[in-house]
Amino acid sequence: MSDARPGFDEWYVKSSYQAFVKREGVPLYEGSALENLGTLELGDWERRGGKAAYTRLGEQENYSLQIVEIPPKGELKPEHHIYEAIMYVMQGRGASTLWQPGEKKHTVEWEEGALLSIPLNAWHQEFNSSGDEPCRLLFGTNAAHVINLYHNLDFVFDNPYSFTDRFSVSMPDFFTDEGRQWNLRLFETNFIPDIRTFRLDPYPERGNRTAIMRLSMASCSIGMHIMEASEGTYVTAHRHGAGAHVVVIGGEGYELLFMPGQEKSRRKVRTVPYAVVAPRTNEFHQHFNSGKGGYRMLAFRGTGLRYGSGRSFHPARTAQDTDPFAESFKIRYEKEDPSIREEYYGELEKNDVTVRLEPLDQGRG
Ligand SMILES: [Fe+2]
Repeated sequence: MSDARPGFDEWYVKSSYQAFVKREGVPLYEGSALENLGTLELGDWERRGGKAAYTRLGEQENYSLQIVEIPPKGELKPEHHIYEAIMYVMQGRGASTLWQPGEKKHTVEWEEGALLSIPLNAWHQEFNSSGDEPCRLLFGTNAAHVINLYHNLDFVFDNPYSFTDRFSVSMPDFFTDEGRQWNLRLFETNFIPDIRTFRLDPYPERGNRTAIMRLSMASCSIGMHIMEASEGTYVTAHRHGAGAHVVVIGGEGYELLFMPGQEKSRRKVRTVPYAVVAPRTNEFHQHFNSGKGGYRMLAFRGTGLRYGSGRSFHPARTAQDTDPFAESFKIRYEKEDPSIREEYYGELEKNDVTVRLEPLDQGRG
């Protein structure tokens, strides 16, 4: 931003998060989709070692991603921070140590497919245990939101408060406990060795043979879920506020993105692991499995399940949209533009996959 007022350009901070990423000296990626986080170009990362990049996807600064690579036999310098982070292992194997100041360290070993929660403001350090392969990690965080809120990096990265109500040495099985199913589609745990094979619950409301498990990890406020569209099926379109990030973790398919009423000029993004889609506010998005086997996704989204903040994830309400679960927020199979299903049938035919959707006049949508 440029302004004629004397000194204004020095005074005005457009985004403390963007200023932070600049200071980190690594790339910032924008847009509403990235083709592959596994091969994304990263920059040398002086603060912690290794390489890194950040995202600002979906034209928002609440949730963001941090992609990190540790060289063979390498390690990152330890850090702690007042934002939440959930780590997914995209490539390689290694270990994390996590601890509160003055307490014994917890050690967790991981390899590709693992999902690990970093408890709020706890110290953590990551190690690559392979001698010849780099490991690549993905952190889903609310760093952008927190850094913009407090705009003081000492407060964010050098804060002495210990959230021992969330994590402490008095919880020795914090990362080894097998977790707890609280309800249908709702699971609480702090570590999952491989989310690519984690058991999900049926979710017929979003499509034929669609399954989901919502996750609550380390008492965090970040919402998460794992979702899968079975072979020969796709998920109905829906929309909500910006901030959700859907990372493909298994299978192959494509995503459609379009603003309400603009199906005809929709954007199509081909996806393989580890593509990410982060729709803008109100942008309809729809997941299609066009390959063999399941099409599985990890989503960082909305509000936490245990400590949610109402339904603020649905800010797109208008006078006629008072119910966030109303039809206007999703498009049933029967109501969608017919060209969407035609296109899908064509994709399956090309890949020699059998359609496994109910005929439209019998479908539940
Ligand atoms: Fe969504």
